[in-house]
Amino acid sequence: MIDLKEKVAVVTGGCSGIGRGAVQILHRAGARVACLDVQDEKGHALADALGGGALYVHADVTAEHEVAAAFGRVVERFGGIDVVFNNAGAAEPLDSDPFDLAIFARAQKLLVESVVLGIKYAVPSMIARGGGSIVNTASIAGLHAGYGPFAYSVAKGAVIHLSRVAAAALAKHGIRVNAICPGLIPTAIFGRALGDSIADADRRARDIGERAHGFQPIRVAGSPDDIGYAVAYFASDLSRFVTGQFLAVDGGLTVGPREAWDDAAAVANWTRIGLSEEQIATMLGTQG
Ligand SMILES: NC(=O)c1ccc[n+]([C@@H]2O[C@H](COP(=O)([O-])OP(=O)(O)OC[C@H]3O[C@@H](n4cnc5c(N)ncnc54)[C@H](O)[C@@H]3O)[C@@H](O)[C@H]2O)c1
Repeated sequence: MIDLKEKVAVVTGGCSGIGRGAVQILHRAGARVACLDVQDEKGHALADALGGGALYVHADVTAEHEVAAAFGRVVERFGGIDVVFNNAGAAEPLDSDPFDLAIFARAQKLLVESVVLGIKYAVPSMIARGGGSIVNTASIAGLHAGYGPFAYSVAKGAVIHLSRVAAAALAKHGIRVNAICPGLIPTAIFGRALGDSIADADRRARDIGERAHGFQPIRVAGSPDDIGYAVAYFASDLSRFVTGQFLAVDGGLTVGPREAWDDAAAVANWTRIGLSEEQIATMLGTQG
């Protein structure tokens, strides 16, 4: 396991799904971890379960004064900040009108402005400590069309570029900025975008987890821990020469179209132009 004993980390959206997995892994690696979220009951229970070195602070990441106060509280409690995982997020309802500007603006505020705020309030403390690592949750929906709703996908594309531009601006302070693009990770985000209550969304996440093994080339379902390990790498000095990059943690989902790795999809695709199954297998090297 990566050693983060000397680090203080802030994780936004740390009460559920990917953020929760990251909180647990960073804490297990020895970091002191502050979880910022709006689900107070879950947050306090998580901090209590982790014990020493864990803190929950209420902060709506779309409210600058709450973010400012929460980062202040973390510095007061742990003495500074070395790592921020800007992760809180949600998708717009899946039946939204793509060109509804109010929905678009809300997505920008929740998914892009919140990252700017996380950087803004972490940087002074990182400069005082001689450097730091900022990790932002983007998505494969920010790399390709077809993996998320409209406003969400545009916002995630912005997070990838924001991470590059911030990396360029902050390198002189020893601060690195990178993005992670998760693939399908069974969490409450799907149920929430479908209008479920939080409890129902958690149940739906478990159900998706049972079905997700065939969703990508690697035939297991992804999990929040898979993202948490990538966060731990970026948080640690093992990645000291890596900045302005994104890492897709997606089980290979973005290696190519489905027909590149799924035989049934390949047959469906290539028979459209008259190839036989045998010719397709020969072309793709999957014969025998
Ligand atoms: N699950 C996936 O397949 C997937 C894929 C790519 C990217 N992501 C991204 O991962 C991040 C985490 O999502 P998740 O899948 O773990 O979903 P989740 O719903 O399980 O967790 C999201 C967390 O963010 C918190 N949150 C939402 N709005 C907030 C706000 N205004 N202020 C503070 N906290 C807020 C929620 O309370 C929740 O704890 C999101 O940015 C999401 O876009 C998820």
